[in-house]
Amino acid sequence: MCGIIGYIGTKKASPILISGLLRLEYRGYDSAGISTVEKDGLSIMKDKGRVKNLYNLKGIDDLQGTIGIAHTRWATHGKPSKENSHPHLDNSQSFSVVHNGIIENYHDLRTFLINNGYTFYSQTDTEVIPNLIHYYYSKDTKDDELKVLRAVQSACKDLKGSYAIEVISKYMPNNMIVVRKDSPLVIGKGDEENYISSDIPAILSFTTKFYLLNDNEFAVLSKDNIEFYDISLNKVQKDLKNIDWNASAADKNGYEDYMLKEIFEQPNAIRETIGSRLPENEPCNFEDLNFTKEFLSSINKIYIVACGTAMHAGLTGKITIEQLCNIPVTVDIASEFRYRNPIVDKNTLCIYISQSGETADTIAALKLAKSKCATTLAISNVIGSSITREADYTIYTHAGPEIAVASTKAYTSQVILLNILAVYFAEVLQSTSSENIKNMKKSILELPYKIEDALKTSDAIKNFANKIYNEKDVFFLGRGIDYNTALEGSLKLKEISYIHSEAYAAGELKHGPIALVENGITVISIITDKNLVEKTISNIQEVITRGAKTLVVTNQALPSNNIDVVIDVPDTCVYLSPIVSIVPLQLLSYYISKEKGLDVDKPRNLAKSVTVE
Ligand code: G6P
Repeated sequence: MCGIIGYIGTKKASPILISGLLRLEYRGYDSAGISTVEKDGLSIMKDKGRVKNLYNLKGIDDLQGTIGIAHTRWATHGKPSKENSHPHLDNSQSFSVVHNGIIENYHDLRTFLINNGYTFYSQTDTEVIPNLIHYYYSKDTKDDELKVLRAVQSACKDLKGSYAIEVISKYMPNNMIVVRKDSPLVIGKGDEENYISSDIPAILSFTTKFYLLNDNEFAVLSKDNIEFYDISLNKVQKDLKNIDWNASAADKNGYEDYMLKEIFEQPNAIRETIGSRLPENEPCNFEDLNFTKEFLSSINKIYIVACGTAMHAGLTGKITIEQLCNIPVTVDIASEFRYRNPIVDKNTLCIYISQSGETADTIAALKLAKSKCATTLAISNVIGSSITREADYTIYTHAGPEIAVASTKAYTSQVILLNILAVYFAEVLQSTSSENIKNMKKSILELPYKIEDALKTSDAIKNFANKIYNEKDVFFLGRGIDYNTALEGSLKLKEISYIHSEAYAAGELKHGPIALVENGITVISIITDKNLVEKTISNIQEVITRGAKTLVVTNQALPSNNIDVVIDVPDTCVYLSPIVSIVPLQLLSYYISKEKGLDVDKPRNLAKSVTVE
């Protein structure tokens, strides 16, 4: 989705803005642009296509301004084109604006502005914003240092929808104004310079000190000061947060792609997720929760709500929570949950999982549950992200920045965190035997080593990828917890290899999909539950009989020997097996994508952080 960068300081802004945009590329975009405050007014340089094309734009090297805003656009209103790229100017060329999000009432605002003599040059919703700011600025008879801020505030009051906005103006040549509502934006504090970004990793190499804006808060930046205001323009104080990610965590570190790096980072990411939450011979330690037995006993239903890969993590968490805690758990897709009037009340615990913490549907689903008096708990990887500020409680995965669009280490961290949470609930509730708890804890602590072993399947997987990368359709099968892994394996393959794939509960095969199985088709199965080995093997035999090529990821001794490729992964407790068995499937989609020559980290049409509905 769209990305925002801003710089205000003593250095030439344009190279800093472009390098910031390059770091936001992973979010997905189709055009890019920058705007700086120059001696003779506001400059605008923009075009459709890659960020690096900005380096070739005529005049870009002549820009001297030390204040600037920048944007990568992911088209919503209007096709990718130079005109539709951000930044956008008002008609008088006095205000330059970049915007993330969607202005839902832009049509009415555009009509209003046209009726007031304004002309529009793009099809975007964004272009109403600089013109509205100009409209209010020209109507304001008071001439003081807050005049531009008042105009931005008045414009924002008219906007319906979501936005993160940066504004520079020839009337305020030493400042920049930013505001956000339901769209991400962080402010990085440097020495005699300040930065704006859509996310923390993009500006980590400049600073680790951040201010986080709440919805409807404004910040007025100069090179050495930042003032914060609420919606009524009362001044507010904000704490500076120190983020303990280091800049190299957001680099490729010698790997060819971020995705490969992040797959191989999983043993350490998981060590960080476990952290001090499982002290030896003591109860689980969730400092930020401290749930009492009385509170957890009052919970009669849990919803886990998320999108994409995070939702798949939820499916696996459901199994452990239900089995250890005896509380029914429903897993819901956030975009469905928010529109289906779910039965939620004060006895419901709603858990929201979001790597980025900025996914619009997940945040909206959280707000809905809060309005129905449920207790809300966010699981996120990004400190201070929007979801963590909305939820009653937050626990972090601490997996380090995840840059590749296809989620890998965030997924395994989410699954492990849900398992630790289940153990914690079970301890508080005393809902399972201490023996079970002890075994779970031991298995969790062994997991980083098991993932290290699972990564050793890399060469065998690469060989298989070389054989099937031209396939048009692939099936994934699994039963029980392995069905969840099949879903996630299939999603990974779709996302980055563009091969059509479907995941089926193996027992469902006969109820339709087997009609599609024909000679040569690839069927990938996962078998980690010893109670279901024979059942799944029977289903695999059915596809082998019909000519399928088969690969099985397993930690069990399999009775059949006519499977084409068996990938052995380390054994672990069944609830945790998805964390190990997904690793070869992540590698498989990676190597297929590479073999096809695709952009692994930035697959077409996808965005890392889906900040609009
Ligand atoms: C997008 C990403 C997926 C991710 C999903 C949810 O679709 O491409 O990788 O799983 O959003 O993102 P979240 O940040 O909420 O976990």
